Amino acid sequence: MNIAGSNSVRTIAIASGKGGVGKTNITANLALGLSRLDKKVLVFDADLGLSNIDVILNLSSKFNIKHLFKGEKKLEDLIVEGPQGIKILPASSGIQELTSLDEFQRLRLIEEFESYNENVDCLLIDTSSGISENVSFFCMAAQEIIIVTSAEPTAMTGAYALIKVLFTKYHEKNFKILVNNVKDLKESIDVYNNLSTAAERFPGISLDYLGYVPHDVFVQKAIQQQKALVDLYPDSDAAKCLIEIAKKISIGNNNNVKGTLQFFFGGLLKTK
Ligand SMILES: Nc1ncnc2c1ncn2[C@@H]1O[C@H](COP(=O)(O)OP(=O)(O)OP(=O)(O)O)[C@@H](O)[C@H]1O
Ligand SMILES: [Mg+2]
Repeated sequence: MNIAGSNSVRTIAIASGKGGVGKTNITANLALGLSRLDKKVLVFDADLGLSNIDVILNLSSKFNIKHLFKGEKKLEDLIVEGPQGIKILPASSGIQELTSLDEFQRLRLIEEFESYNENVDCLLIDTSSGISENVSFFCMAAQEIIIVTSAEPTAMTGAYALIKVLFTKYHEKNFKILVNNVKDLKESIDVYNNLSTAAERFPGISLDYLGYVPHDVFVQKAIQQQKALVDLYPDSDAAKCLIEIAKKISIGNNNNVKGTLQFFFGGLLKTK
């Protein structure tokens, strides 16, 4: 996909400390939003324990990442096409042994991404919740990290804990904050300010406010129908905000790019 060799591919990990804050729904809708902006998008469902981006978008794939690790299938055999031609690499629902990748599996991923030849502008990585090694691994591999949180204290402490681990253990300094499931812009700014203040104790850290998505019943309605919100209810408040965020991402420059651009190349090996 030229991910291994091209500087123009954006690789963005979507993470959160706490589960259920809306990562997968946000990833799916940002993918579609970016695709509308003529970006070629690949979504990697890196929630290796409990993948569900395929469920949200009602996609089924014959093969999963387990087949890749066993050497039975190639990356292109696993990838399924979603709405608007977005490509999705599903993980493996409920395969517990994949919740922590070993070195062989990391190398296998590197090889596969290296030899994948499709053109991709933007790779979105939907990570699992918490602060596992896998999550750190994917966050460090990506060029940009979006931390999703809600206004709930447990979600905020989870976000803070993840930032703290990525900073102290991996020296990551740049984070984009997306506040989900809030009442309004003001509530999201309060959440962002609280996190920023808490993170001030980490020298050189930079938390950017990326945007917010309000609590919206249409989110659940779309999920129930296994369709993307931005397609099904484009005029809903949440969809409008997600489209705005996709625009912001698409025009954003890549200032935060780490020294090495290669996804699954330099990046992933650093986290060994
Ligand atoms: N903006 C919102 N408005 C209303 N409900 C929301 C919103 N965002 C998320 N939800 C609800 O939260 C649920 C969890 O969302 P989602 O599965 O995207 O979270 P997640 O962070 O990926 O969870 P996990 O940690 O289990 O992977 C959704 O099924 C939906 O019901
Ligand atoms: Mg999820």
